[in-house]
Amino acid sequence: MNIRELLTQKAQAAMIAAGLPEDTNPALTPSKRAGFGDYQINGAMGAAKKLKTNPRELAQKLVDNLELDGIASEIEIAGPGFINIHLNQDWLADALSTAREDARLGVSVRKNPQTVVVDYSAPNLAKEMHVGHLRSSIIGDAVVRALEFRGDKVIRQNHIGDWGTQFGMLLAHLSDQLAANEIAETALSDLEEFYRAAKKRFDDEEGFADRARDYVVKLQGGDEQCLALWQRFIDISLKHCEEVYEKLNVTLKREDVMGESGYNDDLANVVRELQEQGLAVEDQGAQVVFLEEMKNKEGEPMAVIIQKSGGGYLYSTTDLAAMRYRSFKLDADRIIIFTDNRQSLHFNQIQIVGRQAGFIREETTYEHCPFGMMLGSDGKPFKTRTGGTIKLAELLEEAVERAEKLMSERESDLSESEMKEIARKVGIGAVKFADLSKNRTSDYTFNWDHMLSFDGATAPYLQYAYTRVQSIFRKAGVDAATLTDNIKLEAEQEKALALKLLQFEEVVDQVIADAYPHFLCAYLFELASQYMSFYEACPVLKEGVEPALKNSRLMLCDLVGRTLKLGLDLLGIEVTQQM
Ligand code: ARG
Repeated sequence: MNIRELLTQKAQAAMIAAGLPEDTNPALTPSKRAGFGDYQINGAMGAAKKLKTNPRELAQKLVDNLELDGIASEIEIAGPGFINIHLNQDWLADALSTAREDARLGVSVRKNPQTVVVDYSAPNLAKEMHVGHLRSSIIGDAVVRALEFRGDKVIRQNHIGDWGTQFGMLLAHLSDQLAANEIAETALSDLEEFYRAAKKRFDDEEGFADRARDYVVKLQGGDEQCLALWQRFIDISLKHCEEVYEKLNVTLKREDVMGESGYNDDLANVVRELQEQGLAVEDQGAQVVFLEEMKNKEGEPMAVIIQKSGGGYLYSTTDLAAMRYRSFKLDADRIIIFTDNRQSLHFNQIQIVGRQAGFIREETTYEHCPFGMMLGSDGKPFKTRTGGTIKLAELLEEAVERAEKLMSERESDLSESEMKEIARKVGIGAVKFADLSKNRTSDYTFNWDHMLSFDGATAPYLQYAYTRVQSIFRKAGVDAATLTDNIKLEAEQEKALALKLLQFEEVVDQVIADAYPHFLCAYLFELASQYMSFYEACPVLKEGVEPALKNSRLMLCDLVGRTLKLGLDLLGIEVTQQM
């Protein structure tokens, strides 16, 4: 059920019936303040201005044509021409009863599903995954889950950095280690260390840099032995990544990998076609596309280099090839790419070049979704105390350890192993929720105490709310699935909770529209908070509550629990029965 969509349709119909042009926007939104109904139509004022008529009179005309029998209990005009809609409690109760019968909680599967390519995580395999990859991985995965839940066909693309000159140095170093009887897995167990050692040799050791360059040439020339060594390197680093995905509950799998190397064979074509179209020209030996649409500080067209003077290709060349593959071969309706905001200029440029060159179908959208930085308490990019990069795997271990400590301070009769399992879910969930709940475009400060708190918008708070629901059913000795009475909405808190529950689909759609998981986080927090208010005001198991009312309230509890679980699941966060 999508109340917003339904009411928008009704409002549109009313506008047409009132003689307004068909494209008039009713501007229907959920009401932000109590006392202004549940939803508002705000479009009467704008429409009246265009038609130069009185807005309140126009609003009245709309109300006269608004067919909400049974859906609304009251419609009123307020102020200069706002239309406030109060929903009918019986209608809400019916909609909830229907939602309860459905494993999807009444969220429909889209009638016109799209093919959506989502490019996320995409670490560079030369190095260990670090906190910078956290955001891309979890934001991307949350959006993927929401898209799939609504019925879109999602094609995950892990555009890993698995190609380029730095692999020459790494392969030269690896081949030496293997020659010295080292085992590849052991040599690569600490990638960061391995990279440092290789780089040191590259800078300091006679002849090593030449050998590294040799390896690059051989690799690009398709030398079999060299490719086999490279493949080993890639396999082992990917395994490291997959361990992190597993810990993080991120759904990326090996088959989602389509790295930079995958476009290798197409790069020459990309350059040639851009030349043939007159888009790429030679400039100081390099192949360059000048963008009239984008000017640099000097007011000159910006230059996008697509081939270096030595013949080497660049990050941008690969992204042009990727764009074409995704739009034409994968048949994407949408291409969504998650990277930090320092790459925004790059993707703007790629889109302009790609569209001019016809590398993307006109109908395919190209959506770079940037995110801000994770900051330490000093307001600077999040680093170790000594200024090193923080390894993602270690950060997650610390999260779980901290959650274990927290759990051990709480009174409980849980066993050691149950505690450990709960701590894992709480620790990982806390890190993820803290990140996902911020508007992705801004920077945010990483703070252990906040994210692990049981107060406020945190994973532990929501996970705890979920366990409260479970404990009510344990106490009542009732199986939620067997409840059949009608839902009754009498108290203010019951009605508010009902409306919130029925807004779940709207929120999922908000997440999908612009790739913003924080809308879902905010929603779940509000839902849990309203549940707490409901629970205070509306006794469920207390003696004297008549059975029908008790059942109705239990059904609300059940819906809250299931919505929390489903919502957290879309964020990739696990729940627990007890805490
Ligand atoms: N590997 C890149 C990085 O770590 C991210 C790749 C994003 N996707 C893309 N199509 N360029 O910065």
